[in-house]
Amino acid sequence: MTATILDGKAIAAKVRKEVAERASAFRIRHGRLVGLEVVLVGDDAASVVYTRNKAKACEEAGMRGVLHRMPASSSTQDVLAKVRGLVADASVDGVLVQLPLPKHIDTTAVLDAVAPEKDVDGFHPVNVGRLASGRPCLVSCTPAGCMRLLDETGVSLAGARAVVVGRSTIVGKPMAQLLLARDATVTIAHSKTRDLGDVVREAEIVVAAVGRPALVRGDWIRPGAVVIDVGINRNDDGKLVGDVDFAGAVERASWITPVPGGVGPMTIAMLLANTVQAAEAAVAS
Ligand code: GUN
Repeated sequence: MTATILDGKAIAAKVRKEVAERASAFRIRHGRLVGLEVVLVGDDAASVVYTRNKAKACEEAGMRGVLHRMPASSSTQDVLAKVRGLVADASVDGVLVQLPLPKHIDTTAVLDAVAPEKDVDGFHPVNVGRLASGRPCLVSCTPAGCMRLLDETGVSLAGARAVVVGRSTIVGKPMAQLLLARDATVTIAHSKTRDLGDVVREAEIVVAAVGRPALVRGDWIRPGAVVIDVGINRNDDGKLVGDVDFAGAVERASWITPVPGGVGPMTIAMLLANTVQAAEAAVAS
């Protein structure tokens, strides 16, 4: 079997179009733009690019996207004051603090200062707890994007054996919760799992999010499995590769995401979706 490629770029474009329609309806109905404020502390090159792309994507969807840059020397109190000011502004629907923050800043205190209803990253403990208890909430963008990709395959998740490789707060854990909420039988594996191959071989759904190039070997993939590769790593040749050995896995899977062009484009699309969801919830309450 050769897998069908799950085209994250095309699916993300579809999500962005849906978001743009909701943002336009919001503007007509409520007389203001849906607004996302992005806070970047310091000048880490990758974070500068990511945050610019987030703000630009908002504008492209007919929303307001504002990037607030603060010097790397900012104190925790400076950043808290900034975040609290944005949260208090009724015209702001979403507040996102780009990670990682400089080491001297108390990341937990800053993330906790984002009100749960404006927490479009889904990182606040209230949203994490709501997800775990099966209540409506803002869900971390990357796992939300993975779920959307899985839904595009039409493959039934109920009763399916799913393995999430990776246990991060941002991807692995929420991913497992989302799959569980859809009645999959979920195993969380990670870099220290013994006999990882034996665990992956069982899975009809594989989500790899460990950040290790080609950790998941192609011959571990169960024939017909759906493979979602969250990893973005540079290999020794400087090429972008995922956590899955794509060349091997594509020969066995039914569906597979490429790297780049799979999960990556979905993350910003889901951020926009979360922001418009937060705006709609704010006016409904
Ligand atoms: N840094 C890398 N990924 C993310 C993300 O999804 N959200 C935020 N806030 N920072 C990040």
